Amino acid sequence: MSGKLALHGGTPVRTRPFPSWPVFGEPEERALLRALHSGKWGKLDGSEVATFERRFAEYHGARHGIGVVNGTVSLRLALMAAGIRAGDEVIVPPYTFLATATAVIEANAVPVFVDIRIETFNIDPPAIEAAITPRTRAIIPVHMGGLPADMDAIMAIAERHGLTVIEDAAHAHGAEYKGRRCGSIGHLGSFSFQSTKNLSSGEGGMITTSDDDLAAKCRSLHNCGRVAGGLWYEHHVIGGNYRLGEFQGAILNAQMDRLEEQVRTRERNGRYLAEKLAAIPGIVPQERTADCTRHGYHLFLLRVDPAVFGAPRDAVVKAVAAEGIPICGGYAVPLYRQPLFVNRAFGPFIPQAPVDYSRVRCPNCEQICFEQGAWMEQRLLLGTREDMDDIVRAFAKVYEHRDQLAV
Ligand SMILES: Cc1ncc(COP(=O)(O)O)c(C=O)c1O
Repeated sequence: MSGKLALHGGTPVRTRPFPSWPVFGEPEERALLRALHSGKWGKLDGSEVATFERRFAEYHGARHGIGVVNGTVSLRLALMAAGIRAGDEVIVPPYTFLATATAVIEANAVPVFVDIRIETFNIDPPAIEAAITPRTRAIIPVHMGGLPADMDAIMAIAERHGLTVIEDAAHAHGAEYKGRRCGSIGHLGSFSFQSTKNLSSGEGGMITTSDDDLAAKCRSLHNCGRVAGGLWYEHHVIGGNYRLGEFQGAILNAQMDRLEEQVRTRERNGRYLAEKLAAIPGIVPQERTADCTRHGYHLFLLRVDPAVFGAPRDAVVKAVAAEGIPICGGYAVPLYRQPLFVNRAFGPFIPQAPVDYSRVRCPNCEQICFEQGAWMEQRLLLGTREDMDDIVRAFAKVYEHRDQLAV
């Protein structure tokens, strides 16, 4: 048996740091200076964002990309472009970042939470179908951690019921479903370039679509309701200044040159790690569905099954972290359990919110949040094979000593 757990004073498996994020260097410096010296710092004057929009959309197989200030605004504008009206219902998963659901509220619509599949952490199509009412207008599947959602089933449901599908691809830069890139499968896609994301400029977001009409609407919405060919002070719809800036565009152009290689590295390491960790009893990596031809690996997701492992999730996470592996339990509660939803603290939006969120139950999501889920960040997957072996060694060591963690 290998030495004492680091948690109990033993030597940790690892003391070296994992790769840090973001990765940057001279290309980013050059790009920033290029934008600076151009003297054109706004999207409407310069060429950095326009170039990036073109490159990013093309990379993801979409005809249009509209660069916006973040991945929350991109969701809201996508909903507005899709014609969502006050009181309409939009189906979302409860296992996601807050923005997936609050963007719906800010569009004055009603988020309806639908459970996820415990194996994939992604929204469950039969549960979507069961939640549809005459007021349902859209579905926002999240590609959780970078694993594509079950898009064929979701698009079939949407078609049957005349719904718009907005992919929340904030975790899914470069991820592929049956060879198609995420963000180009639904009617609209939404990306984030916030600090932790797999392509980052600190803050930023992008709407993708191949529908010319939706693209024109998004462009107008993110540019104060202006329209192509209109005057500067001519505004047609309620919108705002949600434009991505040129300095961010410059960074993103440099980061874009690194993206494909990083996606490949994460994919290689993620597959390896999943295979090795699955051999440890009670460690269940996110199931990789056959439709996933490339995982985005924004997060490496796994479940600790306490009954099989022989120790509670929180104790396992703490012990693995003590061995020098950055890991956490992930979202602590389903979104509908956040005070914001329980108290319906929606400010001026949907004042007569018809859903009592304190009564919502999504058992799979609850099991993941409360008992089983764990995450490792994407930057770990930019490491070497030896780095992955250290992660596996740490889990194996904790498993060996599991009797010391049981409550
Ligand atoms: C799934 C998901 N959707 C939306 C967002 C919102 O993106 P942003 O932080 O850029 O507003 C995030 C990220 O933070 C996210 O993880």
